[in-house]
Amino acid sequence: MKPIRKAVLPVAGLGTRVLPASKATPKNMLNVVDRPILSYVVAEARAAGIEHIVFVIGRGQGAIEDYFDHNSELEQNLEAKGKTEILADVMAELARPGEMSFVRQMQPLGLGHAVWCARDLIGDEPFAVMLPDTVMDAEPAALAQMVAAYNQVGGNIITVEPAPDGHAHRYGIVALGERQGRLAPMTGMVEKPAPGTEPSNLFISGRYILQPEIFAMLGDHQTGAGGEIQLTDAMVRLMQTQAFHALEYDGVTYDCGDKLGLLRANVALALKRPDLGADVRAMIEGLLKR
Ligand code: G1P
Repeated sequence: MKPIRKAVLPVAGLGTRVLPASKATPKNMLNVVDRPILSYVVAEARAAGIEHIVFVIGRGQGAIEDYFDHNSELEQNLEAKGKTEILADVMAELARPGEMSFVRQMQPLGLGHAVWCARDLIGDEPFAVMLPDTVMDAEPAALAQMVAAYNQVGGNIITVEPAPDGHAHRYGIVALGERQGRLAPMTGMVEKPAPGTEPSNLFISGRYILQPEIFAMLGDHQTGAGGEIQLTDAMVRLMQTQAFHALEYDGVTYDCGDKLGLLRANVALALKRPDLGADVRAMIEGLLKR
């Protein structure tokens, strides 16, 4: 079985749910505690042994490339002032040489189209897709749990979790066979089902391990829900010839592409930080007493 070495991060989305914050800053560069959302997702990829990250970017998203590159003036300044801890934190965010590639999705034609744009950079090997506005706080890292499941059952694997009541029609929803622990074989999938027709309340939550044959399905450019080329539709077609499993990973998901979700991630992850947690708790308690 070929190892999972590469991950695709489709970052080109417009960030409509977090406007106006995402008007001039890429959505995935918005802040969670003291670093951009993307920093958490890249750390998760590295913790799962990913060696190469393919960003599918859109126009005006140069800040993403800059974030993972040197800023020599800043680094020299921190060095000269002896701010070694801050400098070490900044340097740890840098891409390793050759670790990152950037490809343009020139039109916003959907998640499936974004993933298809990475086909030449992925080639003929299984790979991960990480929805980059979704922060998964887990130990071991969510994608590492996916890779462990993949090493057990192979094929294609998707993280799922229960959708909030009444919200299932907003997501990709799965139908499952009999569970074995946190893993279950998938029997069906549908993107944004009409309310009341959902096969379950389990939604596709943002991490995928896919076989390269998915690119042939995506290459047909068939449109689905919302007139977009949907990754879910291509997976439904691949499911006719390949196994799919759903994994309910052990951890907490934060949808940072949504105003409340972004705020929740900020509060929850700040409370967990050894250097900030106690002060943040006191601050929140103070605010609640007002
Ligand atoms: C995408 C996927 C959907 C998934 C969702 C998770 O939808 O198409 O299957 O459940 O992400 O956030 P989008 O949020 O782009 O509409």
